[in-house]
Amino acid sequence: MKPTLYICREMPEELIAPLRELYEVEMWQSTSEAVPRDVLLQKIATANALWTVISDQINEELLEAASHLKIIVNMAVGYNNIDVEAAKARGIIVTNTPDVLTETTADLAFALLMATARDLIEAENALREGRWTSWEPLGFTGVDIYGSTLGIIGMGRIGEAVMRRAKGFDMKVLYHNRSRKQETEEMYGCQYAELPELLAQSDFVLILVPYSEETKGLIGAKELAQMKETAILINVARGGIVDEEALFQALHTKKIHAAGLDVFETEPVPLDHPLLTLPNVTVLPHIGSATVQTRLAMMKLNVQALQAWAKGEEPNNRVT
Ligand code: DGY
Repeated sequence: MKPTLYICREMPEELIAPLRELYEVEMWQSTSEAVPRDVLLQKIATANALWTVISDQINEELLEAASHLKIIVNMAVGYNNIDVEAAKARGIIVTNTPDVLTETTADLAFALLMATARDLIEAENALREGRWTSWEPLGFTGVDIYGSTLGIIGMGRIGEAVMRRAKGFDMKVLYHNRSRKQETEEMYGCQYAELPELLAQSDFVLILVPYSEETKGLIGAKELAQMKETAILINVARGGIVDEEALFQALHTKKIHAAGLDVFETEPVPLDHPLLTLPNVTVLPHIGSATVQTRLAMMKLNVQALQAWAKGEEPNNRVT
């Protein structure tokens, strides 16, 4: 008898086809809507394998019901949507999709940094709404990227990829990380800084740390107060790393200049969220890894992990 696989989001059939040879496959039939909790609770009770995306919260309650579950493949590098400790305690393998999204996410981080610095979205809106009436000496002005200082919090693979882009813009790069990266420092000439120093010196502060109990609320009122009044905060990691209420206050009272956010505490971000009322915030719907090539590469890693497990081989990219 084949093991059973439940797929929490509709995936392209050509990718699923090879899995049908190895599994009894069931799939939630929507690309845009998350599988409802009650359906997931019911499906997880019989599934041997589960394919999740970041909006599927796989917590203790679900794992408790998952008495046959052996592997979860998550279509993301981040896996804070899964209680990995609870999975590990039950001997459930969890895999993720690192590396293939590194350059794409770095592209987006840099694009958001540039869009926020030069207020591109407001400039486009002004043009489309007929507010471009004349060339103005100080009209549509932003702040310089070239030659400025970038502070990267979380110098992993994506951090390094952003730094390479920053070097092309002649930026000075500071970084803060759990461990120092001597080799990276020597190779790229970036400098390690303690968090307060990085916050005080950077023109752009880019958050790239994974979300965990340790990084939850890492940037709150105190840290925002340490930033320059001209500084811009960019978050492409996870919403909960920044205290959104504190960020709203800092932006509203011009304690910092602007923010570019690809991620939010609650996603999709509610349209009445206070941050969306501010003119100095550029927002995106969590699209760090969103290119066709990269999303397909992420799916392929998940498929390969599932194939390996079904054949009794070691799945790629295990996090448990
Ligand atoms: C990730 O991979 O963690 C992204 O946030 C989702 O694309």
